[in-house]
Amino acid sequence: MYHPVSLSENIFWLGANDRKTTLFENLWPIENGVAYHSYLILGEKTALVDAIELSKAPDLIRKIKTLLQGKPLNYLIINHMEPDHGGAIEEIVKHFPDVKLIGNRMTFSLVKSFFDISENCQLIQNEETLDLGKFQLKFYLTPWVHWPETMMTYETHTKTLFSSDSFGSYGTLDGGIFDDEVNFDFYENEMLRYYANIVAKYSNYVKNAIDSLQNVKIATIAPAHGIIWRENIEKVVKLYYKWATNQTENGAVIVFGSMYGNTEKMADIIGRRLSENGIKNIRIYDSSKTHLSYILRDIWKYKALILGSCAYNGGLFPAMLQLMETLEHNETPQRITATFGSSGWNKAGVKVLNEFLTRMKWNAVTESAETKGSPDKNAIEKCLTIADKIAEELKK
Ligand code: FEO
Repeated sequence: MYHPVSLSENIFWLGANDRKTTLFENLWPIENGVAYHSYLILGEKTALVDAIELSKAPDLIRKIKTLLQGKPLNYLIINHMEPDHGGAIEEIVKHFPDVKLIGNRMTFSLVKSFFDISENCQLIQNEETLDLGKFQLKFYLTPWVHWPETMMTYETHTKTLFSSDSFGSYGTLDGGIFDDEVNFDFYENEMLRYYANIVAKYSNYVKNAIDSLQNVKIATIAPAHGIIWRENIEKVVKLYYKWATNQTENGAVIVFGSMYGNTEKMADIIGRRLSENGIKNIRIYDSSKTHLSYILRDIWKYKALILGSCAYNGGLFPAMLQLMETLEHNETPQRITATFGSSGWNKAGVKVLNEFLTRMKWNAVTESAETKGSPDKNAIEKCLTIADKIAEELKK
């Protein structure tokens, strides 16, 4: 037995909280956990939207059987094949051998390669519909939000959009399941971190997906992670559109790599001067201490990014190297930027940072602040100039 949660009559939330996994995708810290959502629609025909993560399959199957009360499961809609959403597909097929899998061409290529399943697959095209009787499903192909097969499913009777990764967040559902039942601030923060870590690289596709749904009337957004939206639809769509179109907020992130504290001293000088210039949102991160996940979140949020590195074996400090590679890989749009750093006998760290700016086609606001050892008078002046120029740009 269990305590069912419904979105509307005969549409049920079958989500699962994961408080055990420490790294999402074996990469991103989830100290607040994560939730995987599946939904069951009971019309004359029945459909399950997404099959969640494998470890949660036994409970999912028990819930489905309870709700079906002996009816067959007719369809499994595969919005996204990444194993946090499609991990339990094989288990669903084992328990409901007549279930028809619904997906697009890329979905079935992945279903074959992950599970060696090619039977009972019903191929759908963009905007094709599936009749469940009382409920009608319409499919929107939204490739690269976040894998090439990703799609969304819209139920026309209740105006419910099953949006997959889009509008989802890290964080378990701790009692509240709908947006009107929770304090949104926590989820906004975790939603942005999920976006910056997982989806940001595909921002153009996110924008296209939102554009393609512009004329669709939505009463509920049921994502595959995080809270379900039924009160603040406009707010969450605007928020997502803002992130997808690089509309950043006034503020600066300073990230540095520092072995013995000299580059860190420069970061603090820049941070202090930014504050003296009236900039209120300033985040200073030691790239060795704070996981990339949180730094990426704030880089996606704020307009300015100031990068510092000591020299390390004739190159960049390793933790900074990882950050630079990720920003480049994600095709991060231009930030108001400058570089700084300390070295022992060469200027390798700052040199590599500046090569990064050139590759990214980002223009620095002024020349780099560089020093040997502890920041000297000239380096301090240059740090102050960096902060003044950044503040000037932020105030424009
Ligand atoms: Fe939630 Fe793309 O996985």
